[in-house]
Amino acid sequence: MNQSTLRNFSIIAHIDHGKSTLADRIIERSQIISPREFQNQLLDSMDLERERGISIKSHAITIPYRDYTLNLIDTPGHADFSYEVSRAIASCEGVLLLVDATQGVQAQTLSNLYLATEYGLEIVPLINKIDLPSADIEGVTHQIESVLGLDAPPVLVSAKVNQGIEELLEQIVARIPSPTGDSQRPLQARIFDSHYDPYRGVVVYLRLVDGILQAGDTICGQQHAAHFRVEEVGHFSIKPVAATILRAGEVGYMIANIKTISDVSIGDTITHVNRPCAKPLPGFRHVKPVVFSSLFPENNDLHLKLRQALEKLRLNDASLTFEPDSSQSLGLGFRCGFLGLLHLEIVRERIEREFDLSIITSAPSVRYEVDLVNGETITISAPAQFPNPQRINAIREPYVQVSIITPPAPIGKVMQLCNNRRALESDMRYLDEQKIEFHCKLPLAEIVYNFYDELKSVSSGFASFDYEFDRYRKVDLVKIEILVAGETVDALSILTHRMHAEKRARALCKLLCQQIPRHQFVIPIQAAVANRIIARENIPAYRKDVTSGLYGGDITRKKKLLSQQKKGKSKMKQVGRVQLPHDIFLSVLKQPEEH
Ligand code: GTP
Repeated sequence: MNQSTLRNFSIIAHIDHGKSTLADRIIERSQIISPREFQNQLLDSMDLERERGISIKSHAITIPYRDYTLNLIDTPGHADFSYEVSRAIASCEGVLLLVDATQGVQAQTLSNLYLATEYGLEIVPLINKIDLPSADIEGVTHQIESVLGLDAPPVLVSAKVNQGIEELLEQIVARIPSPTGDSQRPLQARIFDSHYDPYRGVVVYLRLVDGILQAGDTICGQQHAAHFRVEEVGHFSIKPVAATILRAGEVGYMIANIKTISDVSIGDTITHVNRPCAKPLPGFRHVKPVVFSSLFPENNDLHLKLRQALEKLRLNDASLTFEPDSSQSLGLGFRCGFLGLLHLEIVRERIEREFDLSIITSAPSVRYEVDLVNGETITISAPAQFPNPQRINAIREPYVQVSIITPPAPIGKVMQLCNNRRALESDMRYLDEQKIEFHCKLPLAEIVYNFYDELKSVSSGFASFDYEFDRYRKVDLVKIEILVAGETVDALSILTHRMHAEKRARALCKLLCQQIPRHQFVIPIQAAVANRIIARENIPAYRKDVTSGLYGGDITRKKKLLSQQKKGKSKMKQVGRVQLPHDIFLSVLKQPEEH
């Protein structure tokens, strides 16, 4: 393949601005799939993506256009998956920066633009959804110029009604540069993704910078000692298509009988064993998980299966981290790190669907730094790791720099929402008459619980937000322990700011009361901070009407029956253990932070 006819590009945009729909139109136009086989959101291949209507993974596809070969990588829009975007961007020479004509520039439009600029990519702006009556082409063009600082006139398209696609393809070949690698030089290829195929082992997704790769080659990764013999290389069409050779500048896949999952790391450089490249390519920015939660198999015998599932998922989702964990009430499990709550939910659902495992998740938490009285500093990310309060000198929590873009009308409510969640150092500026950019610093723990939903609700869906790590700051943190019938249930414990402790404890007790079914005895639900009970609710017992068989007669007969019933119940209380429904842990997870 002639390198000058090759174009590697990604589509980036804020969530729901229409990336996947645009990818559909480009694929449709290329006729690599028959109309009969075509289905909407073609690249969103996971059921989960289709059901939720969001992209979770980046998807690569090679499309012929005139004499050109276009390698397109569709990316997810949600902030939790920005790591996927950065890997896609690192494999391309250009991006299509798509903006919804009715929404204009949003928070992720800006953060994605910064990413593309950081990698020095050619940026082609385009405005989508111009078919809608509320499209404001002039206003959005102005925003692209003044807010994003892009002078090039945007391409106008409607992915839905197939308008402007031809013009867009012309712009892609005219403006996005072809790759510059050299096929004669030693092989240098970066792994940007992978997945596990039960029959063929690990399928590695590569971008070749220099050199060539073909079946029969012996290769190794720079981070691992193991050598592998390449069995197959190929391109991504609708399905993977084997090719004889991959050359410098191309994007494709490799199968090399790699069975051990730990032999592949995303971001690693692949080279030939007998003619290695001089140095590895720069890897990807290391992303750190921000939310931690423990996963336990519902049936504890399946602990090993859960480990295998997590290992396989990690191949396809490099941002997932996990280490063994155990809980008194839930048994053996794994403490996992996620990029956000949506990421957590997606991983949980993927494990349940793809590996047929029912799992229980503990309440999520961020990572805190704790200075102990003995001078040591430890980090904790689970309530179980919270030290005895007497050993604690100070605790620090992560803060994030939040950027919210909103129309002017709801700005008061947006600021109120942030203030209620302990915002610091807020400031704002007008991007134009219709858009305000509001900045502040918020504790990460405050945004993992429902912040996005509340922001959407106070702004009637118009505000968008993005965040990045700022720094650790001091916090007055306490651990709320939950006692069910006098026994502490460790998986229900949560860490929270002292200011919110009582309200959260009360809300938690109420919630548990609704969730735990009645037993034949009264179940007290208590919440305690440092052994002091701060909230309590009772789940009343079933009351069987033991007197229903009586008619008439002396009142003492009734009393006698009731006292017998009471005796029986108190006996059960001693021997009985409360059965907790499994989804109770999930309800705690979903319980909003009360303010
Ligand atoms: P994420 O991957 O989740 O970020 O979403 P996305 O950017 O890929 O957006 P998607 O393609 O899923 O489109 C979001 C919604 O916008 C869908 O309901 C589409 O049908 C609709 N949509 C996309 N393009 C157009 C368009 O040109 N006109 C109109 N009217 N609707 C569009």
